[in-house]
Amino acid sequence: MTSRLPEGAPSWRGWIADHALCEPPALDGEGRFDRAAWLAELGTADALVCLLGDRVDAEVLAAAPRLRVVANYAVGYDNVDVAAATARGVVVANTPDVLTEATADFTWALLLACARRLGEGERLVRDGAWHGWTPTLLLGAELAGATLGIVGLGRIGRAVARRAAAFGMAVIAADTRGVPADVDGVRGCTLDELWARADVISLHCPLTPATRGLIDAATLGRMRPGAIVINTARGGCIDEAALADALHAGRLGGAGLDVFAAEPAIHPRLLTAPRTILAPHLGSATTRTRVAMAELCISAVRDVLAGREPANQVRVRA
Ligand code: DGY
Repeated sequence: MTSRLPEGAPSWRGWIADHALCEPPALDGEGRFDRAAWLAELGTADALVCLLGDRVDAEVLAAAPRLRVVANYAVGYDNVDVAAATARGVVVANTPDVLTEATADFTWALLLACARRLGEGERLVRDGAWHGWTPTLLLGAELAGATLGIVGLGRIGRAVARRAAAFGMAVIAADTRGVPADVDGVRGCTLDELWARADVISLHCPLTPATRGLIDAATLGRMRPGAIVINTARGGCIDEAALADALHAGRLGGAGLDVFAAEPAIHPRLLTAPRTILAPHLGSATTRTRVAMAELCISAVRDVLAGREPANQVRVRA
C-alpha cells in the first residue's frame, strides 16, 4: 500500500474504514484469499498492512525485497515471523492499547453468556421449544464469591480483572513466565494453583511456543468440575479436541471461545459441544477500536517510510 492518501479520499479514517482494511489483499476467482497472488503483489511493496490471518513468514519477506515495514492489524503478532523480518531490516508494528477495553468487554460478554447459559436459552426460544417458566430451567452459575483465574496479566488481562470487582469475584492470575506480582487486588499464583482454584479461567496470553496447547487434557483434568473456560486470546493456546472431550463429558461448566486454532475452521466436536458459546473472533470488533487500530497501522507505515521509529514497534521476544 502507499502512505499517500488516495485521491478524493477525505481522510485516512474514512478511507480505511470504507475501503482499505475490509478487503483481503488478493482474491481468487471465487473471492477467497489467494496467497500466490498476494506474494506476486508484494514484489513492489514498501509497506505491508496485514491481518492476523495473514502468515508473514520468510517466504513472504523474500517475495517483498523492498519491504520496510509490516504493520499488523492486531495486537497479537504470532502470525508474523518477527525474527525473520528483523533480520532483513523490516520493522514490525502492532496495535496495542486501543483494543484493550473492547476485548475486555467481549471477554465478559462470553463469560456471562456461559455462566448464565444464554446461548442455550436463546436457541430454546428461537426453536419454539420453550414451554414456560419452570424452577429448574437452564440453571447457571453465580459469579459473586467465585474465583476468576486470568492467564496472562497484561493490558487486556488487567482490564478483565478490573471488571471482576463489580461482580464480586476474587481474581487470581498466572503466567507461563512465572508468578505475576500482586496488583490492584489480583493475586499472582502458579498455573497449577490457577487450574485447581479458578471457577472461571480466562486466557489473555500471546500465542508462543510456551502457551501453545496450554489448556490440554492434563490441565483440563486439574480444573474444578464445572469450571468455565474463556478464550479471547488465540485458539492455539487450547488443545481443542481435549476441550471438546471435556465439554462433551460434562466435566466443565462451559466454554466461551472467540478464537480458534485454524480460523475460520472450527473443530467439529466444538460445534456440537454443550454449554459452549462460539464467536467469530469479535474481541476487538467495535467501530471505534477497529478505526483506532487502522490509524495505528497507518501511523506505523508513515513513521517507518519517513525514517522514524513507530510507536508500537514489536521486537523479537526474549
Ligand atoms: C488482536 O488484535 O490480536 C485480536 O485478536 C484482534 O483484534
